[in-house]
Amino acid sequence: MDNWIKRPAKSSQKPWPASAPDARTATPAVVPSVSAWAAEVVGFHADPLQKEVLDCPAKRVILNACRQFGKSQMAATRIAHYAIHYPDSNIVIASPGKRQSGELFLKVKNLLAKLGVHTKSDGINEHSLVLPNGSRIVGLPHSPDTVRGFSGTSLLVIDEASYASPELYVAIMPFLATSNGTMWVMSTPKGQTGMFYELWHNERLTRWQRFRLTADQCPRIPAEFLEEMKIIHPARYWEEFMCEFRAAATQVFDREILTRCHDDAYEPFFGNGV
Ligand SMILES: Nc1ncnc2c1ncn2[C@@H]1O[C@H](COP(=O)(O)OP(=O)(O)OP(=O)(O)O)[C@@H](O)[C@H]1O
Ligand SMILES: [Mg+2]
Repeated sequence: MDNWIKRPAKSSQKPWPASAPDARTATPAVVPSVSAWAAEVVGFHADPLQKEVLDCPAKRVILNACRQFGKSQMAATRIAHYAIHYPDSNIVIASPGKRQSGELFLKVKNLLAKLGVHTKSDGINEHSLVLPNGSRIVGLPHSPDTVRGFSGTSLLVIDEASYASPELYVAIMPFLATSNGTMWVMSTPKGQTGMFYELWHNERLTRWQRFRLTADQCPRIPAEFLEEMKIIHPARYWEEFMCEFRAAATQVFDREILTRCHDDAYEPFFGNGV
């Protein structure tokens, strides 16, 4: 296990640093890959697709993954790895609801406890962990009004992103403005509206690394279960297990059909620009 884990906790609590270390300059001499560290130190043996996600070096990662693929498990591992290996880093967990960010926060907390890392609260945020190496992890409440003041964030993770409001994105994206930080956005699709849908489909966001992780690629979900889901609730099967953005029952037209209406490649029905 890494030596630093046994370092004594710092006695005084630091306020959130005005300018956190840039992830590029804060790199310690040797950082194990997330997946190798997870297997060796945590005992989490990622499957091949999970390894790709965990070790992805992109600054923007979007995960369109089925239910139970291991989104939260991967995020918790990535967060713990980052906090441990990049001293003084600021990590923020945002979710559409307090419950979700609380759950991911708890996963991280339990993981650090399992590794023997002593943490304490920052004394400000209800969901906060300060590590002996100065790294700080905060699970934010949902209300965008109360999530300001985390500039210099090194790693920003949004869980259950399909349910997050545009206001939440607007409130938290500036955390990365000057930090060259990394952002992970994860969800199972939910309808054809919202920021997660837009981020996934916006081709102008070229530096975003997109991962589509369907249930038939997950070694832990048996084919029989998927067959059952397909019979019992086909709409949910395609959305929640095959990661398709489906038109909501209340939505009259499929979003793709509407998009095609604006595509110059299609001839107008009646000619003369009509
Ligand atoms: N590589 C793995 N090996 C063994 N178990 C795993 C692996 N990856 C994930 N799991 C287990 O699969 C279960 C689902 O994981 P997790 O809760 O992280 O999924 P999720 O995608 O966040 O699910 P949900 O869509 O319900 O939020 C958990 O019990 C987790 O421990
Ligand atoms: Mg989850």
